[in-house]
Amino acid sequence: MDDGVKMLAVMVEVCCQKKKLLEELGENRLPYVTPADADFHQLWKTKYSKLIFRKSDTVPEELHQMVQEGFLTLRKHDCFFQDLVRIKGKDFVTPVSRILIGNPGCTYKYLNTRLFTVPWPTEGYDINYCSPQIHDACKALIRLNDYLHIEAVKALQRQNLFETKEIKDTTVIDREQNFATSLTAKGSVSKDQSSCCVPEDDYISLKNRTSYNLTLLNYMDPLQMLYLKQEPYFGMGSMAVSWHHDENLVERSTVAVYSYSCEGSAMEESNEQKLKGRDPAVWHVGLKVAWDIETPGLAIPLHQGDFYLMLDDLNMTHQHCVLAGFSPRFSSTHRVADVEFEWLRQFWFQGKRYLKCTDWWLKPMAKLEEFWRQMEIMTSLVLSEVGKEQQIEEQRNETISCFLLVLTERQRLRKEWTARCQSEAAESLPEDQKPECHPFWTDDECNMPLPYDLEEIIANLQNLVQWGE
Ligand SMILES: *[C@@H]1O[C@H](CO)[C@@H](O)[C@H](O)[C@H]1NC(C)=O
Ligand SMILES: *[C@@H]1O[C@H](CO)[C@@H](O)[C@H](O)[C@H]1NC(C)=O
Ligand SMILES: *[C@@H]1O[C@H](CO)[C@@H](O)[C@H](O)[C@H]1NC(C)=O
Ligand SMILES: *[C@@H]1O[C@H](CO)[C@@H](O)[C@H](O)[C@H]1NC(C)=O
Repeated sequence: MDDGVKMLAVMVEVCCQKKKLLEELGENRLPYVTPADADFHQLWKTKYSKLIFRKSDTVPEELHQMVQEGFLTLRKHDCFFQDLVRIKGKDFVTPVSRILIGNPGCTYKYLNTRLFTVPWPTEGYDINYCSPQIHDACKALIRLNDYLHIEAVKALQRQNLFETKEIKDTTVIDREQNFATSLTAKGSVSKDQSSCCVPEDDYISLKNRTSYNLTLLNYMDPLQMLYLKQEPYFGMGSMAVSWHHDENLVERSTVAVYSYSCEGSAMEESNEQKLKGRDPAVWHVGLKVAWDIETPGLAIPLHQGDFYLMLDDLNMTHQHCVLAGFSPRFSSTHRVADVEFEWLRQFWFQGKRYLKCTDWWLKPMAKLEEFWRQMEIMTSLVLSEVGKEQQIEEQRNETISCFLLVLTERQRLRKEWTARCQSEAAESLPEDQKPECHPFWTDDECNMPLPYDLEEIIANLQNLVQWGE
């Protein structure tokens, strides 16, 4: 409970600080740098060293071609969707359209919405794709995934070597601490591992933290957007994605981002824009140090085929945003996702979008729904059992109180999901993307053991514990 209170205090503080900072700023903006500024590289090296950037010409041409064709295929087959997310209890449709591709059965939750992977071709799995082109696109993305995994391992090893060299003349203790913080989340380095090579455990953990099991693909055409938020602190211009930390990833895991902006004929960099700040025609990734208004921000231009890596704890110490250019842009963001629950309603909430690419999820979802039905039946059995008066009162009291917690939570979630399915934002979606509130049933559907609305059952149980009847 103490933790809960502390957390709440921090959240209130966060909100107030943000508001206060914006008020103090008024018309002024904090400084930020781009590669055109003299101090860019110095700042990068000292304050943003865990951001690794690679130009497109370091990536094999054949891979570029496969992946870029894959993006266009997925767009052609209407596989990208704007997500209906929930932020602080409010529903929004994201400006960016997305699709999740990855290991069969993996999911990724962001802003309270869980996305389900369109599986990439995986040995031992029989996957139906709606077209051979979609198969090829998914295959291209797993190739990119393999490539980025190797690049991330190299980058992490290089950083580690670099750090070991730098601290050569400090004490062994220091080296150990530095080593521990640079490589492992929790101190798995013991005294006798202080020198030379990377211990086996750390090597595995290094591999683990770059073994991406999925990629979240993003797509946005800025010219199709009526309105994009302006970056508020630095004046970096239009944002496709606001400042954020990434959620629900394995701790200290790397995120790798491949960027493909369709810069063409009309989309030359605007030349007269060399005055100050970033070029609004070009997509950028923006970075800032969290809770720090002294360190200037960073805006890094992303041209066709560039990629970058966010290593280790960069996500915790920094925030990032995506600054829109003028041309349409795809990105593929590779992640090591945390495992989580809460699937059934999340899946149907996104309507039938997954059928655009594959029917893979129908089977696991049917299975899950079967388990869920059994859970409803078990619930009704427990209910009729506690209604009987065979138990001694104290025991019964305990059972009911415990059970009440579960039912109250279930009722709360059902209410929340019903509301999400009926929100204005949901209503605004095209018919084939409208969320489905499922499972849902009315009282006259007699094949369900309990009502959908648990209000009355909860009230009855509360009476039972209170009055002991
Ligand atoms: C690496 O991942 C595997 C499988 O997820 C896990 O069993 C193992 O404990 C992890 N190792 C480290 C060092 O994190
Ligand atoms: C990213 O950073 C935020 C804020 O520090 C944290 O809440 C979140 O868990 C982090 N995510 C990962 C994957 O480390
Ligand atoms: C993704 O991979 C990591 C590391 O191997 C693993 O710990 C995690 O459970 C995987 N996530 C999912 C959703 O399977
Ligand atoms: C049962 O629980 C209620 C409310 O929590 C309490 O007032 C009552 O004294 C309890 N009865 C017994 C026998 O423990």
